[in-house]
Amino acid sequence: MKILAPSILAGNHAHLLQALEVAEEDGRKWIHLDIMDGHFVPNLSFGPQTVADLRKESKLFFDVHLMLDQPDRYVDSFIQAGSDLISIHLEPKYDHNATLDKIKKAGVQTGMVINPDTSVEGLIPYLDQLDLVLLMTVFPGFGGQKFLESVLEKAQVIADLRKENQNNFLIEVDGGVGPEHVTACLKSGVDIIVAGTAYYERDQAGRKEFAEAIELN
Ligand code: DX5
Ligand code: ZN
Repeated sequence: MKILAPSILAGNHAHLLQALEVAEEDGRKWIHLDIMDGHFVPNLSFGPQTVADLRKESKLFFDVHLMLDQPDRYVDSFIQAGSDLISIHLEPKYDHNATLDKIKKAGVQTGMVINPDTSVEGLIPYLDQLDLVLLMTVFPGFGGQKFLESVLEKAQVIADLRKENQNNFLIEVDGGVGPEHVTACLKSGVDIIVAGTAYYERDQAGRKEFAEAIELN
């Protein structure tokens, strides 16, 4: 399964639902929702009420990326809001296991994220519990940054570990991804490609072409 998950961070926030509708009309199955706390990342986005309200209007798979210092404090709200998958960052200090347990017990899929300068070793103890590993290909906080191609070496390492341990988690990349990076991403074992700017700046034909380059693989 190869999927393009548009990130609505790049949409018009006065009309977020329209950003979802564009993706839905385009045939996308996933939508990526970026939650920022102004601490873990130097920016703010939107919160659980926005996710809950969008949930009522959309059948897309909600791929929720929590960029929070204390995801353990907020994860319940994002479960309640109707997330289908919640990814939490490895870097901050909190009880990662308890937080993953809580997500799983609620019947929501689990993801763990690492920043470009975090090595994959720290993820190893969690791999058996994960539905998704998210590798940041920019430093999180803002859309429209430059794709860090060197992160794909980590994707390859994670893909090898997945094979070795017979895990089933998906591998996702997020940040700066455009059509020109698709081949390299897929070659490195990536399943889910998040794209904000490169998706929403295109017209419908361009978006379809971008998606098909991924999803026909
Ligand atoms: C970055 C976010 C990304 C962002 C991607 O902090 O986690 O999901 O929306 O946007 P682009 O594709 O514009 O880098
Ligand atoms: Zn994201």
